Amino acid sequence: MPAHINKNYLNLKESYLFADIAHRVAEFQKANPDREIIRMGIGDVTRPLPETVVNAMKKACDEMGTPEHFHGYGPEQGYDFLREAVRKYYEGFGVSLDISEIFISDGAKSDCGNLLDILGTDNTVLVQDPVYPVYADTNVMDNRTIIYAKASEENDFLPMPEEKYKADIIYICSPNNPTGAVYNREQLKKWVDFALSMDSIIFFDAAYECFIDGDEPHSIYEIPGAKKCAVEVCSLSKKAGFTGTRCGYTIVPLELKRDGVQLNKLWLRRQTTKFNGVCYIVQRGAEAVFTEQGEKEISGNIHYYKENARIIMDTLDELGIYYTGGRYSPYVWMKCPKGMNSWTFFQYLLEEAGIVGTPGAGFGQSGENFFRLTAFSTHENTRKAMEKFRQLLK
Ligand code: MLT
Repeated sequence: MPAHINKNYLNLKESYLFADIAHRVAEFQKANPDREIIRMGIGDVTRPLPETVVNAMKKACDEMGTPEHFHGYGPEQGYDFLREAVRKYYEGFGVSLDISEIFISDGAKSDCGNLLDILGTDNTVLVQDPVYPVYADTNVMDNRTIIYAKASEENDFLPMPEEKYKADIIYICSPNNPTGAVYNREQLKKWVDFALSMDSIIFFDAAYECFIDGDEPHSIYEIPGAKKCAVEVCSLSKKAGFTGTRCGYTIVPLELKRDGVQLNKLWLRRQTTKFNGVCYIVQRGAEAVFTEQGEKEISGNIHYYKENARIIMDTLDELGIYYTGGRYSPYVWMKCPKGMNSWTFFQYLLEEAGIVGTPGAGFGQSGENFFRLTAFSTHENTRKAMEKFRQLLK
């Protein structure tokens, strides 16, 4: 008998959005080797790792070179020193977690996909449109039925529960990727109550929580009842520059049960079987993120990116272009000018100004005519890009 492929993969677009964009940019660069390119597409950071983090990793590296302090296989769910640091971080939001509810991961993207291992393929799924492609694609891979909740100017890119959005798994990302929109407490409570009323599970992606400095919730567990209906993924990628270093965490509350089974147990079983944990050196670096000095250095970086977001927002205001995000988010979600569609604007910006952004249509149908810019570039390049915007779009 010949082996068979997972035919669901044939239902995916041929390449992942950011791989597609990287390919187009590489082609452009090949054809125009002298052109300067300013990258404001994929949400990759430019600030280096904080010094405190680097020092902690160096120290861990040295330990690994000694027989007394060498570490082989670590606990699949992460070292207690880091889980404890995460537990304390949540205390700062008034959320009390048991250490066994915290699982150290190699990032939010991986666990968004991995978590589906413990849920049946017969579950229906609600994602927002536009959507971070990982939520939709990983469900297409398992052939789950996907319902799309339209996010648009009409609802400030924050869709709310409706009868037609009843689903078993509900994805929420706040601050949102790609739109930068943020749910407030009452809005998030409506989603939690909605999920509780149907015994659904919310997948809450908190990857951008560090950009919030108002009263909006950082964690879904700030909402009463959420421990009975939500798992949460988070990442140090954007918070502390770990896009290349890879570390995050996933919270699976002990109270969360479906079919009479604790999801926490299933997740532990899955992780101990399929994962060998995050590298010790990286976990020591991650631990340093949560120290007083680490937090101080990180807030400098976040402030830096917020300043970029402000430069982008000021320019769009000046040009009279509608946008959302930017305030509590590194993403600014702008309407394409001059009636252009997303990919036309992508090509126009690339060719005329050497600026790379992400076409809204790449995040779903409702993203058409929109465009995402990231604030993760340098001040210098952000200013340069916005100057080019002024020249091109005034
Ligand atoms: C993005 O640009 O949407 C993000 O960088 C993707 C990610 O975090 O995986």
